Amino acid sequence: MDLVELPRLLAGQYVLRAFQQGDADLVRSAASDPYIAAVTSLPAAPTARSAAAFIDRQIGRLHEGSGYSFAIATAAGDRACGQIGLWPDPLRPGIATVGYWLVPEERGKGIASAALIAITRWATATCDIDVLELFIEPTNLPSIAVAERSGYRFQQRAPHSRLVGGNPADMDVYVFAAGAADAQ
Ligand SMILES: CC(C)(COP(=O)(O)OP(=O)(O)OC[C@H]1O[C@@H](n2cnc3c(N)ncnc32)[C@H](O)[C@@H]1OP(=O)(O)O)[C@@H](O)C(=O)NCCC(=O)NCCS
Repeated sequence: MDLVELPRLLAGQYVLRAFQQGDADLVRSAASDPYIAAVTSLPAAPTARSAAAFIDRQIGRLHEGSGYSFAIATAAGDRACGQIGLWPDPLRPGIATVGYWLVPEERGKGIASAALIAITRWATATCDIDVLELFIEPTNLPSIAVAERSGYRFQQRAPHSRLVGGNPADMDVYVFAAGAADAQ
């Protein structure tokens, strides 16, 4: 799939930017929440080598054509505190999924919402994406709040549609449709 270069996107007092090897502390902090490793390729117990490999994989997503993996970092100090990814669906042109996580100590400050709004605006304005989808476990109330606050609306329950810790789990699909709503 042809992808554009990964930009640096402003999200309030945060930026979305490419991963860099200096982000190893982010990987270590994120591993303190086992849920992140259960739903992503983050190592559950990172070593220096597996943290570096995780970062390499994020940098490689663009070159392999699978999508855009951004680190969420403070605009002032460039300290990474989370990840957000945009994954265009090769089988459904114009449609992409988004996923995100924050390290536990940086939650509850509106960072995920700011990042989701920024990536949604960029995707619809620049990447020929008209529809963005989030797959959220029905019990994940913080993520549902992030979705709704960012202009996404519940579409349907998708049974056994994602793996959580290796097991199929039901997901609620939240959708942002360009034109139907604007990112807040
Ligand atoms: C989901 C996640 C990214 C949210 O990050 P965040 O930066 O704390 O999100 P925000 O501060 O932008 O918003 C959090 C919202 O959840 C709400 N919230 C937090 N805990 C809640 C709870 N137990 N019940 C209901 N709402 C809750 C907050 O009030 C806030 O909503 P509001 O701004 O409308 O008041 C973060 O919790 C996380 O990384 N979780 C683990 C990984 C994950 O679940 N990723 C998403 C997979 S779909």
